[in-house]
Amino acid sequence: SAAQKGGWDSYMDKEIHEDPKAVADTLLGRFGPEGELNLDELRIDPEDIRQVDKIIIVACGTASYAGMVAKYAIEHWVRIPVEVELAHEFRYRDPILTSRTLVVAISQSGETMDTLMALRHAREQGSRVLAICNTQGSTIPRESDAVLYTHAGPEIAVASTKAFVAQIVAAYLLGLYLAQVKGTLFRDEIHQTVDSLRAMPSKIEWVLDTQADTVERTASSLVDAKSFLFLGRHVGYPVAMEGALKLKEIAYTFTEGFAAGELKHGPIALVEPGEPIVVIVPSARGRGTLHKKVVSAIEEVKARGAFVIAVAEQGDPDAEEYADVVFWRPACPTLLSPLVDVVPLQLFALDMAKSKDLDVDKPRNLAKSVTVE
Ligand code: G6P
Repeated sequence: SAAQKGGWDSYMDKEIHEDPKAVADTLLGRFGPEGELNLDELRIDPEDIRQVDKIIIVACGTASYAGMVAKYAIEHWVRIPVEVELAHEFRYRDPILTSRTLVVAISQSGETMDTLMALRHAREQGSRVLAICNTQGSTIPRESDAVLYTHAGPEIAVASTKAFVAQIVAAYLLGLYLAQVKGTLFRDEIHQTVDSLRAMPSKIEWVLDTQADTVERTASSLVDAKSFLFLGRHVGYPVAMEGALKLKEIAYTFTEGFAAGELKHGPIALVEPGEPIVVIVPSARGRGTLHKKVVSAIEEVKARGAFVIAVAEQGDPDAEEYADVVFWRPACPTLLSPLVDVVPLQLFALDMAKSKDLDVDKPRNLAKSVTVE
């Protein structure tokens, strides 16, 4: 009913607008009096945490892209290797698992059979499994050694939105906690990152408040496009993958997401005049190396007539100059940028689906949770 949708046209509308709350709520109650991370809820002995020498993240769909984002942050903070693998591939390739491997299973529903089978396999091999899950008491957390819940609230629309941002936050909390226990970051560095995380809900709010009109206009102008490419680098790469997935899931548009550096190794052959390409542009602050590379990717595709939609930091003069349309993000640390960059892409998929008059909450052929292998 309309009331259940909080006055929005669809659950997906409502849930995208709950992104800020999902981030804020997932941060709540996870800090001690000195601002230190307190994840006692994990009930893992800190000594066991110190022993962890490798993390393997297993997940499917949107949750796997949250895992890919987490890899960049956790490796940077904790200095241990993080692998990310689709749960259905993981089990069948004889992965190397030891008692010092921490397997992190990310799942909104907690019922995805592929992910469940992967975690069972990991436990059989003697590894510890930690679930990042949005559904209290579901099977995946029940069968895991530890659980860190995301507090996104129930997600009804089939295409995952608010759960994705909450999964990134939970994985980041885990990464910062590991860094705290292993001493790989200074206290000040952890505090700064936590402060930056706390500032994200209002930045997401800003995107929702100020960018929705541009996103909607862009979507209705591109409703007849046959395909879309999405590209990004570093944490922008999984964001591109997720943006592409959202659009295929609910607007039934053929999309491909890929790492911007791969452009010249293949996908550029697809670019013809008018091809819409969504580019996640990293910040130009700091050394800005990646920014330059992504801007030159935009120039490459523009030279071949592409229609470029950039997701870029407010005030980025290159995005303004080279892109046909810009979805702006407020400035934030690079590692946290996926939390804002995905928001216009969620809205974009929603608006495309609405322009095509599709059932955004119940796309054809898909299930909210896939409980078969
Ligand atoms: C299904 C859904 C996707 C979701 C994936 C993983 O395929 O349609 O939206 O990302 O499962 O679901 P989970 O509940 O494990 O996060």
